[in-house]
Amino acid sequence: MKGSLLYEGKAKKVYYVDGKPEQLILSYKNDATAFNGKKKDQFAGKGRLNNLITARIFEHLHQQHIPSHFLKALNDNEQIVQKTTIIPLEVVVRNIAAGSLTRRLAIPEKTALNPPIIELFYKNDELDDPLINDDHAKRLADVTEHDLDHIKILALKINEILKRLFRQADLEVVDFKLEFGRLADGTIVLADEISPDTCRLWDVTTGEKMDKDVFREDIGDLIETYETILQRLEENKCVK
Ligand code: TMP
Ligand code: ASP
Repeated sequence: MKGSLLYEGKAKKVYYVDGKPEQLILSYKNDATAFNGKKKDQFAGKGRLNNLITARIFEHLHQQHIPSHFLKALNDNEQIVQKTTIIPLEVVVRNIAAGSLTRRLAIPEKTALNPPIIELFYKNDELDDPLINDDHAKRLADVTEHDLDHIKILALKINEILKRLFRQADLEVVDFKLEFGRLADGTIVLADEISPDTCRLWDVTTGEKMDKDVFREDIGDLIETYETILQRLEENKCVK
């Protein structure tokens, strides 16, 4: 069923599906990287956790009518998705100041951002994924003004759904990164992953960082942290 390797990224391998050219298999790796690959490590079990957390979140988004590439989890480490052409933009939504925003604009960490701030980064490793504006995106990412409006509306809807979902798990959604892709007919759908690798999540009660910042900042046990996220999401499976 699993066909040949199409692409290997920092966190996932992408395979063709034999006999189904419109589908792909994403295989989540145990590698962790940060700062555009400058910091690297491996954590046994990380691939499983990100695969299952992403599956849980995308299933929930599907129930809430967010169009995405996700079809289903195949096993602990793999999920099957619809093939898309990825739009080379990282769409970041921020509810609370943290990370690069605090460094770039000297906004103190923990400052509430209401309404949320959306930022676009150009997905390009050689350039270190630079921050860009809408005009740059139209020039570099083959998107129209209308596509960008649509992507931003979807990103804000996803933000509202994620905030509600994670609230039930006693977690604050500080910020997160989304990627979008185009199906064969051109329709734009949510793609890639949503996991503690691509979100900042803070414990509502203790304020503890519960995401990849534990690896970036060497402040905790990554596997224990991600396991807690999965458990809390599982406990709230019936929450809409
Ligand atoms: P930043 O503060 O480093 O710009 O990150 C904002 C959010 O985007 C944070 O939740 C982590 C996520 N992110 C990724 O998923 N991939 C990346 O390459 C980067 C830089 C950030
Ligand atoms: N994902 C990026 C990397 O692998 C950056 C980050 O998440 O900090 O280098």
